This record gives sequence, structure tokens and C-alpha cells, in this order.
Amino acid sequence: MRTGDIRMLLILVAGLIGGFTLTLRGQAAAPQATEQARNPFSGDPKAITYGAVLFRQECVFCHGVGARGGMRGPDLTTGSWNHGGSDADLVRTIADGVPGTAMPPNKLTADEMWQIVAYLRTLQQPVAPAVGDRARGEALFFNAGRCSSCHMVNGRGGRLGPELSTVGSARSRAYLVDSIRQPAKQLTQNRTFGDSALKYDTVTAVTADGRTIVGVPMNEDTFTLQVMDMNERIHSLDKKTLKSVRHENRSLMPTYDTGRLPDADLDNLVAYLQSLRTTPTVRKGGSHEDH
Ligand code: HEC
Ligand code: HEC
Repeated sequence: MRTGDIRMLLILVAGLIGGFTLTLRGQAAAPQATEQARNPFSGDPKAITYGAVLFRQECVFCHGVGARGGMRGPDLTTGSWNHGGSDADLVRTIADGVPGTAMPPNKLTADEMWQIVAYLRTLQQPVAPAVGDRARGEALFFNAGRCSSCHMVNGRGGRLGPELSTVGSARSRAYLVDSIRQPAKQLTQNRTFGDSALKYDTVTAVTADGRTIVGVPMNEDTFTLQVMDMNERIHSLDKKTLKSVRHENRSLMPTYDTGRLPDADLDNLVAYLQSLRTTPTVRKGGSHEDH
């Protein structure tokens, strides 16, 4: 091929790529207009009541009464949003869900979603002043507090307790505080095996030869039981050969009361845990930026 031909080819290719990006940009621009839309039901008392009813039917299970956060979903009253805080952002999150998390997509109509958003707006608390020092909390988590001996965060830490890499997105502040001060109050659902019936309770199994194994259940069916003990050893047990097996509604996590963990340290730890989030899909401040 002569140099001239190559140049022609390059120009052609550049033109193609250029044209292609132009089309893409054109397409990306289209949905922006609808994303700017304001809630047609904003402040409408009747719509807010419908929204509250819908929320109780569809969302309370995870987000808790009054959207104050529950077992499986975050507090939606804090005014701090991970996936965008405009009315349109909320509708989009509700419609599409958050892939890779428990937040499901919904088949609600647009009006129903706007009504839910109108309701959520009435619950917004004034933004709480930040308490606690995230960096100190992180140091405590990995060093003196020894939380990382049982918990994994972004690939660092132990495996006995649930992974906490995105716990700040999934849990309310109140839930986090309870998890530390009173671990048994709401035991974490074990999500690893997708079986929502399985939770991080404490299992004590006694084998035929008299060994006692204490740990968290990892998997269980009618015939078998897998338990991880305090040393992260996994025991696969055949139930019919066991002398006994007992589930107790308590946590293997120690209770951190004020003697063990003063309130100031708790605040730092919780500030750190709240910072552990799924990647925001919308940048802070501007909620209508290009992705
Ligand atoms: C099965 C549990 C579950 C159900 C049901 C559920 N959610 Fe969620 N929701 C979650 C979880 C978990 C998250 C956090 C996702 C993440 O990690 O970013 C979430 C996140 C959200 C967010 C984003 C919060 C933010 O910071 O941007 C909104 C808004 C939301 N949910 C609203 C709703 C509404 C409204 C309903 C009912 C129509 C609902 N959810 C039903 C579990 C649930
Ligand atoms: C001996 C192991 C162990 C240690 C040490 C430990 N945890 Fe836990 N943690 C667990 C187990 C097991 C669970 C699951 C049962 C439950 O809900 O308490 C848990 C649950 C949690 C939860 C709830 C997670 C969720 O999504 O439901 C949080 C938050 C938590 N731990 C934080 C901490 C912090 C902070 C520390 C350090 C101060 C700590 N843990 C120390 C074992 C431990």
C-alpha cells in the first residue's frame, strides 16, 4: 500500500469514528429532557397519601416504617442520596433498581412512582451534622477495634462476619449503631448463598465422636449443614451422624458496650461504615451530568 492510500484510509476511519461518536452523543442527549422533569404531584396531599400506601405495600419490607431504614434497605429520610437526589433521579432509581444490590426494579406506573416520591419528600429530615471522624474510624476498624478480624472490606479482613464493603449504602445509621451495641437485636441475613431464610445466628453442633463445633451457618438443607468456626474453618456436616445441632438467636460478634467502645469511638466507626458505599451512579452536587 502506498503512503497516500494509507492516509486516505486513516482519514476515512477518523471520519467514521467521528460520525459514530456524534450519533452516540445525539442519542445520549434525548432522555435528559425527561430527567429534568419535576414531580407533577409535588405537595399534593391526596397523592402523598397514595404514595404512603404504595410505600407500605412495596417498600416497607426493606426500607422500614416511615422509610427510616430497615433490615435490608437504607434510611431514605436523611436527605443524602447515593444515586441522585432530584425527583427524576428517585423515580429512575425506583424504576430501574440498583443492579447488584437488593434494590429491585419495579413495574409501578410513572404516576405511582411520582406519588411515592411526593411522599418521601415529606419525610426528609434536616441533614444531620456529620458526627464522627471517618479516618479515625477506619484506623479503629483495622487496628485497635479488631473489627477486620471478622469482617472483610474491599478485600481486606476476615470472613466469619458479613462483608461490609457496601454496608453504608444498605444500612441506616441506627441499624449500624445497633449492630455494634446490640448485635443480637437484628441478625444479618446471610446473603452469600442467596437464601434469605438463613441468617448469621450461632450454631453449635456436637459430632458423633463428641467434638463441639461452634460457628455461623453457611449453608443448610435437610441432610447437611456447613458451618464456619471462629478460625474460619469450614465444617461440612452430615446431620444424621451428629449427636446434636442447635441454632441460637445470638451473634458471634461481641457486644461493644460503652465500656468497651466509648461513644466517640462508636461515632468514628459509624462514620467510616457509612462511607462504605456502592459506586455512586450520579456525581455529588450536579445530578444531571453525562455518565
Ligand atoms: C428487597 C429490598 C428492597 C425493596 C423491596 C426496595 N428497596 Fe429500595 N433499596 C434497597 C437497597 C438494599 C438499597 C441500597 C442500594 C445500594 O446499595 O446502593 C435501596 C436503595 C433505594 C434508593 C436509593 C437511595 C440512594 O441513596 O440513592 C431509593 C430511592 C429506594 N431504594 C427506594 C425504594 C422504593 C420507593 C421502594 C418501593 C417501591 C423500594 N426502594 C423497594 C432495598 C430495597
Ligand atoms: C468475632 C467476630 C466479629 C468481630 C470481632 C466483629 N464482628 Fe461484626 N459481625 C460478626 C458477625 C458474625 C455478624 C453477623 C451477626 C450479627 O448480625 O451480629 C456481624 C455483624 C456486623 C454488622 C451488621 C452487618 C449487616 O449488614 O447486617 C456490622 C455493621 C458489624 N458487624 C460491624 C462490626 C464492627 C464495627 C466491629 C468492630 C468494632 C465488629 N463488627 C467486630 C462478627 C464480628
